[in-house]
Amino acid sequence: MGTKSIAVLTSGGDAPGMNAAIRAVARAGISSGMRVIGVRRGYNGLISGDVFEMNLRSVSDIIHRGGTTLFTARSPEFNTPAGVQKAADTCRSLGIDGVVVIGGDGSFRGARDLTGAGIPCVGLPGTIDNDIQCSEYTIGFDTAMNTAMDMVDKLRDTAQSHDRCSVVEVMGRRCGDIALQTGIAVGATAILVPEVPFDLEKDVIKRMQFTQLTGKKHFIIVVAEGIGGVDDLARQIQEKTGIESRATVLGHVQRGGSPTLRDRVVASEMGFRAVELLQAGEGNRVVAMKEGRIVDYDITEALNMKKTISKKLYDIALKISI
Ligand code: F6P
Repeated sequence: MGTKSIAVLTSGGDAPGMNAAIRAVARAGISSGMRVIGVRRGYNGLISGDVFEMNLRSVSDIIHRGGTTLFTARSPEFNTPAGVQKAADTCRSLGIDGVVVIGGDGSFRGARDLTGAGIPCVGLPGTIDNDIQCSEYTIGFDTAMNTAMDMVDKLRDTAQSHDRCSVVEVMGRRCGDIALQTGIAVGATAILVPEVPFDLEKDVIKRMQFTQLTGKKHFIIVVAEGIGGVDDLARQIQEKTGIESRATVLGHVQRGGSPTLRDRVVASEMGFRAVELLQAGEGNRVVAMKEGRIVDYDITEALNMKKTISKKLYDIALKISI
């Protein structure tokens, strides 16, 4: 027998497009005869029972909004066996027999644990970082990169006017995808990502000096958060090249804003698939994108996969940003 009542929550860092995913889950679930329960503030809401019953209009006018209308949290209590048990008890007392969890890999570990406690869960990759091992795309990535690109375009105006170097930190602690793609899109002279070790002299200074010889007078260096230290980098660049340098950390601005078309569409497709899975009685799954198609994996299998940065894109960046 398929699932009759499902809950939906967002967990971990918010990402633009989460609302489109919530909307898809609510609409697909309700229109196929399910009860859909909204859970506030991630797993904390499941522990405390901070939930409400959704109807078709509960998710009106949210598809274009950034953030998450269900609020989000990282829940230390849910990281304990007692917390997982409490959340599972809440689900049983409310008659919830399946949960859609929208978040990153920490949220998926929670979904695995809750499934283990008897409540089937389906994870949707929602994080700006694009750092989910099993999926080539995560909800929020496109919006965040477009925001970062707009910001760096603005920095370029002032760097160009002053013949300066602008060293910009974008988000991504363990994953350099935002830095790599934004770096390509803004024509950065160097892109530093956590997956590729770098040598300041060879990978930044020499590249700047080479392009300077060909007439270039202003420079953009994009640095992933996982590398960090942009103030010090800017100082060293200035010392070694004599080019006046400034550092900017873009920070949380990248997490906000209206989701792009891509994020809205992918979130809608993924949310729809999550409901199909729970309806078919399947739990412990993660919805993902593979070669542009929506697929799903076992959560444990998904968590064991390894994410790598695109070597091809990285090499292209090196060859054309000169
Ligand atoms: O995972 C998304 C992300 O924005 C990362 O890029 C960043 O390292 C982290 O979240 C920041 O988390 P917080 O909002 O807790 O500061």
